[in-house]
Amino acid sequence: MGRLVGKHALITGGTSGIGLETARQFLAEGATVAITGRSSEGLDSAKRDLGGDVLAIRSEAGDLAGQRELATLLRENWPKVDVLYANAGDVTHRPLRDWDEAAFDTLMATNLKGPFFLIQVLLPLFANPASIILCGSVAAHIGLPQSSAYAASKAGLLSLSRTLSGELKDRGIRVNGLSPGPTETPALGKLGLEDEAEEALRREIRSLVPIGRMGTPLEVAKAAVFLASDESGFVVGTELLVDGGVGNL
Ligand SMILES: NC(=O)c1ccc[n+]([C@@H]2O[C@H](COP(=O)([O-])OP(=O)(O)OC[C@H]3O[C@@H](n4cnc5c(N)ncnc54)[C@H](OP(=O)(O)O)[C@@H]3O)[C@@H](O)[C@H]2O)c1
Repeated sequence: MGRLVGKHALITGGTSGIGLETARQFLAEGATVAITGRSSEGLDSAKRDLGGDVLAIRSEAGDLAGQRELATLLRENWPKVDVLYANAGDVTHRPLRDWDEAAFDTLMATNLKGPFFLIQVLLPLFANPASIILCGSVAAHIGLPQSSAYAASKAGLLSLSRTLSGELKDRGIRVNGLSPGPTETPALGKLGLEDEAEEALRREIRSLVPIGRMGTPLEVAKAAVFLASDESGFVVGTELLVDGGVGNL
């Protein structure tokens, strides 16, 4: 029997890469799934790709009013939320000198403020038990050049897995971080690099990984299934690194 049968799972940023593959795995395990994204084309294409009754919702992860609308929509469609995977992320990397306040605020809103308030507005809807998975990054643990704002946002998000687990445990809500290392997704192609520069970056990234390759969205999605399911019922307030050894070797 599927490991997520009877569970309602919301995945933010579920139209591409890790989020899309996680939606596919959650469905295969029997969950009812909703995904978000900003682009209508992305949502349509993910819906076609996933088939079935996926609820595809246009929503900007960094917009607080949008998070409230998302919660209202779920309340109208679902009896409860068993799983939240806050996966949508702004992956902007740039040298310190090139950051301005607007870009910094947008990144922090998407990666930290938005997920924080999404959890707040979903509180009345969360089932008991429920699992919240926060998408971190191994970048939070290493000193990769140009990752300053991104890594700080992910470190903040990962901190919430501890503090909110402490605060919500009596409501039966577990919060854990899931931190990928370099993973083959369309994200790299969105940096606006020429083909050659993108390939050079990919080579550089690969060389950072002790096991010598990038991860796949499926490898991260399988870890998300574990954290979403009751199999991980004793896993609370921690972080699962799925990173080919980057953070520890
Ligand atoms: N790939 C890696 O190497 C890697 C490593 C460590 C951590 N991560 C983390 O993994 C997560 C997913 O990354 P990915 O590589 O799978 O990226 P991806 O393939 O580019 O997919 C990103 C998804 O998030 C959505 N999204 C982006 N910004 C959003 C926003 N502001 N509001 C709502 N939705 C938004 C995108 O849809 P729209 O564009 O339509 O909004 C898309 O569905 C991110 O949090 C990233 O930081 C990735």
